[in-house]
Amino acid sequence: MTLLVGFVLSGSTSDEAKIQLTEAGEERLREGQLVIIESNRGSELLLARIERIVPVNEFFVEGDPWSEARRRGLLPPLAEEVARRYTLAEAAILGKAGRRGLEEPDRPPKPGDRVRMLGSGELEKLLGVERDAPGVVWYGELLGYEGLGLPLDIENITMHVGVFGETGSGKSYGVGYMLELLSRIPLGDGRYGALPAVVVDANGDYLDYHEAFASGHRLGEYHAVYRLVFPRSPARFEPYTRTVTIDLDVFTARELAEFIVTYKSGGVDVNELQVAALERVLRELGEEYQSYTEIFTRRVSELYELLSELSTGRGAPIHPQTARAVRSAVDKFVGDIVEGYGVISRKPSIDKGFIDELTAQPSLAIIDFSAEGAPGIPLPVRQLVVAYLARLLYKVFTEYKVRGEERYLALVIEEAQNYAPNPRTYPVAWSLARDYLALIATQGRKFGLCLVLVSQRPAFVDPVVLSMVNTWIIYRLAVEDIPYVSKLSGGLPRSLERRLTRLPRGIAVVTGQMNMLGFPALVRTGRRRVSHAMGRTRLVESLRRVYGVGEGAGGKG
Ligand SMILES: Nc1ncnc2c1ncn2[C@@H]1O[C@H](COP(=O)(O)OP(=O)(O)OP(=O)(O)O)[C@@H](O)[C@H]1O
Ligand SMILES: [Mg+2]
Repeated sequence: MTLLVGFVLSGSTSDEAKIQLTEAGEERLREGQLVIIESNRGSELLLARIERIVPVNEFFVEGDPWSEARRRGLLPPLAEEVARRYTLAEAAILGKAGRRGLEEPDRPPKPGDRVRMLGSGELEKLLGVERDAPGVVWYGELLGYEGLGLPLDIENITMHVGVFGETGSGKSYGVGYMLELLSRIPLGDGRYGALPAVVVDANGDYLDYHEAFASGHRLGEYHAVYRLVFPRSPARFEPYTRTVTIDLDVFTARELAEFIVTYKSGGVDVNELQVAALERVLRELGEEYQSYTEIFTRRVSELYELLSELSTGRGAPIHPQTARAVRSAVDKFVGDIVEGYGVISRKPSIDKGFIDELTAQPSLAIIDFSAEGAPGIPLPVRQLVVAYLARLLYKVFTEYKVRGEERYLALVIEEAQNYAPNPRTYPVAWSLARDYLALIATQGRKFGLCLVLVSQRPAFVDPVVLSMVNTWIIYRLAVEDIPYVSKLSGGLPRSLERRLTRLPRGIAVVTGQMNMLGFPALVRTGRRRVSHAMGRTRLVESLRRVYGVGEGAGGKG
């Protein structure tokens, strides 16, 4: 027997039920929670979500005879004991149990029908999915139901996922939890498999997984967990750690010219004269050497020679002033990025072979942009790396497709607004990565590339990219982001929308294609098996140390 929480009242429709709660219901139910209506005396089962709860007490009604007494601070005698008290609830009817999952409800419940909590195993039956069905993972806990997860259809991750919420609302923890689920996807016959993934880890939130793996723990079915750090990182010699090196040959002359010129100016605007000049030089040299990496690592002097040749004499195609500016931009690019950070290599560590390896033996690669993994590496360089990665993935996955080979990979991007910025609202310097991320967003599904975009401010993320996101995990949001997110995610019910600004840490609205319920649900993130050290702050603990609080007599240091 499951808990009886209410009875249907008159005036219900097939969309919405009016309910009076039982005492148990008053105690237990919260807005956003799912319940079962045993409709028409139990002849059919309806799944419904509590939208609003309204307590009523006849001695406390606006304008009633006790109004004056209340003004004077008096309570009506026996108000609590003898008053007619009850609690009303409104519930949205989401579907009717059918043979193959939920169906459109076609008749309203009758007054007097019982309303109860979901029983164990009942959700599976209602949706027509088995607990260990291939391709289904059970995410966290539906609000108010211990141990009952939200079924997610892994197939639909190919239509991309957006994870949004304010700082500290639980995004990174939640994405880590999601990766744990993706590391153990039921495949049928009692077997499990992992979805290959690359995480662009802005703050080192995912390094716990690497550490656990490197010290002998497994992460589901992942064959390996790699950490990628920049060549100057002190962590580069650790086990299962590789350096981040890329080449420049995935880019066009135009793209490189744009990057180099804006890297120097640090601006959002692109100086067209300089870009055109550098593009021309790169094209000419590129024809000769067939490799921009070669030019920038070994033949910069030839680049300078050509530049000065093209800007000398009457009628020279490049103005000397432009040539000087271009030269100084190239100087800075080579000094910082090629020689300084050491990121450019003719044998890049992130290459087709690496992607082959990750996808053939499903593994997780964490690109570590934390202070330890990417010491002193400025945003434009991180953007360059992400742009490279996006292009490489697109290229390699297109080749797989052409060869008739199906492979899949999730690309998780923390702080997505830095790589696919919305040019109208987020004036982070121009990003080389945006176009290819947009391409993956629009085309990736056909190639098996799945984006998981994580951001505090969805309004700062490129709308083209966001418009392709089909599954939304929405944690506590800033008020100004709510209408935007609600619209993009296809409209949220008012009851959930209202709560978005107040969601406690770790609770999210999950909506979209992966959500097998077919309607937005409030879900508590599940517990990670590997802890999350990075997100933790210890302000008070550290002040206690500074002030020597709680230290024994001799222990003052
Ligand atoms: N479901 C949860 N259970 C336990 N701890 C959690 C949960 N969700 C988040 N936390 C903890 O709360 C803190 C903040 O969470 P998290 O780092 O995931 O926030 P965030 O949304 O990624 O923030 P930011 O945007 O600043 O990166 C972390 O210490 C994290 O471990
Ligand atoms: Mg985070």
